[in-house]
Amino acid sequence: CGIVGYIGDREATPIILEGLKKLEYRGYDSAGVAVLSNGKIELRRDSGKITHLETLLKEKPISGSPGIGHTRWATHGEPNERNSHPHVGYKGQVVIVHNGIVENYLELKDELMAEGIQFNSDTDTETIVHLIEINLDQGLSLEESVRNTLKRIKGAHGIVVLSTKEPEKIISARIGNAGGVVIGLGEGENFIASDIPAILEHTNRMVFLDSHQMAILEKDKLTVQTIEGQVLDYKVEIINLDPVSAVKGNYRHFMQKEIHEQVRSLTETMAGRIDFQHNSILIPTLNIDEVDFDQLKGIKIVACGTAWHAGQVGKYLIEEIAKIPVEVDIASEFRYRDPLVDKNHIILAISQSGETADTLAAMEEGRKKGARVWSIVNAIGSQAMRLTDGYISMQAGPEIGVASTKAFTAPLVDLYLLAVMMADKKGLLSAQERSQYIAEISKVPDLVGTCLDRENQVREIAAKYKDTEHMLYLGRGINMPIAYEGALKLKEISYIHAEAYPAGEMKHGPIALIDEDMPVMAILPHDQWYEKMISQVEQAKARGGKVIVVATDGDTLASSLADDVLWIPEAFWMVNPVVAVLPLQILAYHIAAMRGLDVDQPRNLAKSVTVE
Ligand code: G6P
Repeated sequence: CGIVGYIGDREATPIILEGLKKLEYRGYDSAGVAVLSNGKIELRRDSGKITHLETLLKEKPISGSPGIGHTRWATHGEPNERNSHPHVGYKGQVVIVHNGIVENYLELKDELMAEGIQFNSDTDTETIVHLIEINLDQGLSLEESVRNTLKRIKGAHGIVVLSTKEPEKIISARIGNAGGVVIGLGEGENFIASDIPAILEHTNRMVFLDSHQMAILEKDKLTVQTIEGQVLDYKVEIINLDPVSAVKGNYRHFMQKEIHEQVRSLTETMAGRIDFQHNSILIPTLNIDEVDFDQLKGIKIVACGTAWHAGQVGKYLIEEIAKIPVEVDIASEFRYRDPLVDKNHIILAISQSGETADTLAAMEEGRKKGARVWSIVNAIGSQAMRLTDGYISMQAGPEIGVASTKAFTAPLVDLYLLAVMMADKKGLLSAQERSQYIAEISKVPDLVGTCLDRENQVREIAAKYKDTEHMLYLGRGINMPIAYEGALKLKEISYIHAEAYPAGEMKHGPIALIDEDMPVMAILPHDQWYEKMISQVEQAKARGGKVIVVATDGDTLASSLADDVLWIPEAFWMVNPVVAVLPLQILAYHIAAMRGLDVDQPRNLAKSVTVE
């Protein structure tokens, strides 16, 4: 979910609305705004996307400041108007927006109902606002009321509160990892949001709220304190993000734009990190010199979704190049299984948003057990970047399309650089090997550019398969995760059922599914798994399946076997995943666009999932 707030002399509503639009990637089930207008709370909410709210505000405008707004990814309660945020307390004196889940909300709801309080929604959030209202009613200040309420609710939360009783303030608090809270400092006005882009056009002076901190915003003052009320010094960070890069330009969708940005993003993820003169790799933010590689037992990669697929490629790269054992875990599994980790392990989190609750919890679990915690992360200033012993910034720039593309390929390159750097620290590489590795990865932007030039050929194949109902993706070795990623791209934006399998497993089950209605996508670049993949393609063909292959230029055997070919340029095998995923991203994009679907904001998904 996304939060925006404003306090100052300007009208709050337009600022909040524009901010919410920039956060829509965090959820778009419903949206709402509340403003203090002539001493009263004025509320507008609607289900669906922010454009619905915008229309409503045109019909029934609201004027005033301060104000708060929210765009929601539903957890408790249907995404209808009554469940939309903001929520107002039973006396109409307090209004709140909230990210997170009140884990003990049923118990609190029973208690509040027993006191005669009526609920107007099915959300857990409503318990918070009523509790604050009860405290206010007992004569406590807004600050104390919020503080007392936070003691009652379980779980991780980010909240922003307004009250008619103290109209010159916005109060916010953060407990745990339910999404960040960032405060933007203006001149005679202040801003608050769950993510930088929402307020960056107004100010680049930002203060990040840590867990268990509260912020009190007045129009010309900010106070940060612990939840217990101890006033803290805060650090103002200057953010140099280019707000323009989040604009769609000539592309039809953000996803298409972001696919095309990969030449640049991959160049930037390498920029400044490869020292071509000495043929070495430098990532100072990682603090790699603190690692004792003699003692290191292994690396545990934790991530969710697309980032998890990147991690699986990373296992191949790190084990092969740096000879360090790697396990790749789904973050939501890792955090609940008492993993065998100690101070001689590194937890490596991969996350585009740096705010995914499960990934942050997995990092915390690792830290608790004494492990060193690293991250590869895109969103600057996010939790996963801040709460580590070292990080690699993806440098992909803001990614808006919910289906991740450039934030998938960037960590592949980062993992490769990391593997080479660790191998070097361990003294495994001769100068010649090192320069060879560097030479191969340096070719990536160019290889990716070649794939992008072939967009039209991929689009023609998309047109042939756009009405299929199922698709099976197969890959082996380092490209097995690419099969998973290709299938994920297709299913999440086109709603076509797409399954991925390690190709060698096809004969143990999924082969039963193959017929003329189940196209098979085989990732078949020239590498050490090539022959094995060819025989799997033969097996699929023998069952009457239509086969599409991702194949290396000039592969006549592949083209004679397959019904359709997505051609990729020849690359070093460890670099193939970055190249092979490109036509799969483009294919999924065009299939979804041809089906007339909402490519950038597919149903039920959110870009950044800050709840469990
Ligand atoms: C969500 C997104 C996915 C993403 C995953 C992990 O589910 O829809 O595209 O891969 O979260 O996100 P992260 O920001 O941690 O990479």
